[in-house]
Amino acid sequence: MASLGHSVCCADVDAKKVERLRAGVIPIVEEGLERLVAEGLSSGRLTFVLGAENAVRSAEFVFLCVPTPEGADGQADLSFVETAAQQIRELLPRNSIVVNKSTVPVGSTRVVERVLRRPDVSVVSNPEFLREGTAVHDFLHPDRVVVGADNLEAAERVGRLYEALGAPILVTDAASAETIKYAANAFLATKISFVNAIAAICEGVGADVRDVMRGIGYDRRIGNEFLRPGPGWGGSCFPKDTLALLKIAERANYRFDLLQGVVDVNLQQFDRMASRISAAAGKGGTVAIWGLTFKALTDDLRDSPALEIIDRLLSMGHKIRAFDPTVRSGLESYPSVQICSSEVEACEGADVLAVLTEWENFRWVDPTDIVGLITSGHVVDTRNLLDRSAWLTAGFTYQGVGR
Ligand code: UDX
Repeated sequence: MASLGHSVCCADVDAKKVERLRAGVIPIVEEGLERLVAEGLSSGRLTFVLGAENAVRSAEFVFLCVPTPEGADGQADLSFVETAAQQIRELLPRNSIVVNKSTVPVGSTRVVERVLRRPDVSVVSNPEFLREGTAVHDFLHPDRVVVGADNLEAAERVGRLYEALGAPILVTDAASAETIKYAANAFLATKISFVNAIAAICEGVGADVRDVMRGIGYDRRIGNEFLRPGPGWGGSCFPKDTLALLKIAERANYRFDLLQGVVDVNLQQFDRMASRISAAAGKGGTVAIWGLTFKALTDDLRDSPALEIIDRLLSMGHKIRAFDPTVRSGLESYPSVQICSSEVEACEGADVLAVLTEWENFRWVDPTDIVGLITSGHVVDTRNLLDRSAWLTAGFTYQGVGR
């Protein structure tokens, strides 16, 4: 927002985080973010403060960007949104606009309005579609900007903040904007579960899923993105948003069997990959794992497919040695997982190698450096990342997904 020319003040409740951001230190792995923040700090258009009250006093727009974690029964937990709204209620300047960026259940714009009790302040829903790892690029080159409000003029004012991006700006009512976010994530998750199911069929009929996906991706009605088979989808959005949408459907008296199927296929995929790795490792065998994050280019481990698979392997009695370029210390919830400092170290004394995240670095490891370390000589590549022929030539048995 600062790079578009706006004056932006970011508030957080975490003093340490604020202090580090003021010094230009970015607490997460996100391509291009450090440079962007440095530019904002030096231009003076971007500041970081502790506490919401210090950010909102002179604001025209107040973006709520707090987390909406999965609640006990799968519904999104709105307590952070409500607390933030409460904190700023009395401080908001007259006629300012509160913008909901967090992914919230349909109807939450109204919830914020009720907490605020400020008839002069409009509440607008403005869902974000950023992917972790490419968030800066996605922000600056959006396919569309969605703004929803029951007050059309307020929605248009928010839309104008993004004018410089030259993207289509879609103005809707609040409930539609909130539904768009869930529908988009559910559709993308559906695409991947569909691909993972087709991959299983490819294995049975001797087809190559990569060619099959190329073949369907050229159809413009399908499109060629989000057709990569893998260990199952994960991350901070798809798992919680699909469950939340199932809950929303339930409350709207609709049995969303299709989306339930998409979620079930994903769990099945974790199971399939874990059994495949387990079979190759042999009873009680040690598994070397390359990649722990939920995808490459991020250090985010939340709902990572790798951890889902590790859970299953541990309960089947396997030992785990893992390497991930962004994970240096041990995993709190998995004390028995040995975190190694290189790809080669993870393979030492292991019975099988499994690739669970598509980090480019893994592609460039020479298989001849690994072949003597893995006792079964078997590699399970759940991302179809490695150069199969190079690994076969080095003496490995290679198993990808759907090929
Ligand atoms: C997602 C949405 O893409 C984004 O629009 C929304 O704002 C937030 O949620 P993100 O969670 O960052 O973004 O990850 P994404 O790149 O969508 O990947 C999600 C999962 O699907 C990852 O586990 C990834 O590895 C997997 N995936 C993705 C595949 O298995 N195959 C693919 O073809 C694409």
